Amino acid sequence: MKQKIFIKTFGCQMNEYDSSRIYESVKKIGYEKTENYEDANCYLLNTCHIRDKAKEKVYHEIGRVKKIFRSKKKPLVIIAGCVAQAENQEMLKREPYIDLVIGPQAYHKINDTILNHIKKNKKTEETEFDAISKFKYFNKIKNNSGKISSFLTIQEGCDKFCHFCVVPYTRGPEYSRPFKQILDEAKYLIDSGTQELILLGQNVNAYNNEKYKLSDLILEIEKYSDIKRIRYTTSHPKDMSDDLIEVYKYSKKLMPLVHLPVQSGSNKVLELMNRKHTIREYYKIYDRLKEINQNIQFSSDFIIGYPGEEDIDFKATFELIQKIKFINSYSFIFSPRPGTVAADLKLTDKKISMERLEKIQSQLYENQIQVNKSFEDTTINVLIENFTDDKTQVFGRSEYMTSVIFNGKKEDIGKIVPVKINKSNRTTLFGERDLSSNQKVA
Ligand code: SAM
Ligand code: SF4
Ligand code: F3S
Repeated sequence: MKQKIFIKTFGCQMNEYDSSRIYESVKKIGYEKTENYEDANCYLLNTCHIRDKAKEKVYHEIGRVKKIFRSKKKPLVIIAGCVAQAENQEMLKREPYIDLVIGPQAYHKINDTILNHIKKNKKTEETEFDAISKFKYFNKIKNNSGKISSFLTIQEGCDKFCHFCVVPYTRGPEYSRPFKQILDEAKYLIDSGTQELILLGQNVNAYNNEKYKLSDLILEIEKYSDIKRIRYTTSHPKDMSDDLIEVYKYSKKLMPLVHLPVQSGSNKVLELMNRKHTIREYYKIYDRLKEINQNIQFSSDFIIGYPGEEDIDFKATFELIQKIKFINSYSFIFSPRPGTVAADLKLTDKKISMERLEKIQSQLYENQIQVNKSFEDTTINVLIENFTDDKTQVFGRSEYMTSVIFNGKKEDIGKIVPVKINKSNRTTLFGERDLSSNQKVA
């Protein structure tokens, strides 16, 4: 009988990519995926450690699993991801219900670890950083994402050590995958139906393998005639190199949305955060990209209430948001992370942080509403990804990643079609297939 694995994924897009790669790996030892965790013989939690009570959330989740399996055979319980890396041995000690703990740079060992556990009933923790072996291993296992829009990790880890961030400790040092290895995976994804590739890295624009940079990868991938759109995330302002900026002049498939986290609009706070860039430099990147293409839009990440953020600093962040009309952004109150430089700094008053966050978010939301409204009564290109949940319409994305819902046809899934937008809200555009448009279905 087949073993069944249930994978629950928290956190960023890279965790989603990892979960799907883990699944491809455990398939080799007889597991098949289940969406219903009561059916599972193996329960894998792919965790995120970026904010809040990440660790407690994991134990809470295990508590839930325990209850569900009280009167059944206990599943094999595996904790993967960034909490696994940060907590390692501690997790096995604190919660005997957990069988295996495996960090993000040790996933190539997952099959052996599972088999070893089944044979010897031995609890194991694998948290060594070995990105080279991991990607070599996964290079031999096909990426059957089966999606119209697929993630592809090209770079992992971080050497920047922003004072608030756990990523350098959970994902390890910066590592760029070999150029050819990435192209092989891209080609396989494209040959099996992927129309859009989203290149991933914690610092994706720091990609550097021998002489190749992110701009080289973009230009090489777009030579495949069957790929329609290319995106990359997440980039750091310090690594927005000239060649990457220039690639917006030449690339035909790179989408005009730049996700460029700024965190704060105040130079003082940026320095306290150890961000290694100034607001002036950020504007410079913005101006240069806008000069190349006025239609390029920006999205960003903000941390509010970082220790030392005063009213004047917050105002600077607010002004930045008013000037650069970010079309989509993530904003959170600073959350002290164990082991980071900012872990023990004096926190900004919670009530003040909350008020600031609300102000920022209402301005960001206002921007989003306005931008989406500006698409009403226009025709835009939409890559159709799937049906909506109720199967009555189709769901796709604009060039700016905004969700679009309209009356598309099944045979158009995977194609780019012109859609006339007639309604919008903050997150979604609604429309109908524009049959009068001269734009060809691609
Ligand atoms: N490498 C990217 C960069 O340099 O901006 C960001 C990657 S991080 C996984 C994603 C986002 O999480 C960050 O941009 C930041 O806004 C947020 N973040 C990280 N640590 C945080 C913390 N301690 N508290 C609140 N937000 C945090
Ligand atoms: Fe974290 Fe990004 Fe800073 Fe690296 S550059 S430490 S991933 S916020
Ligand atoms: Fe979270 Fe790790 Fe991603 S901490 S945001 S899952 S890199």
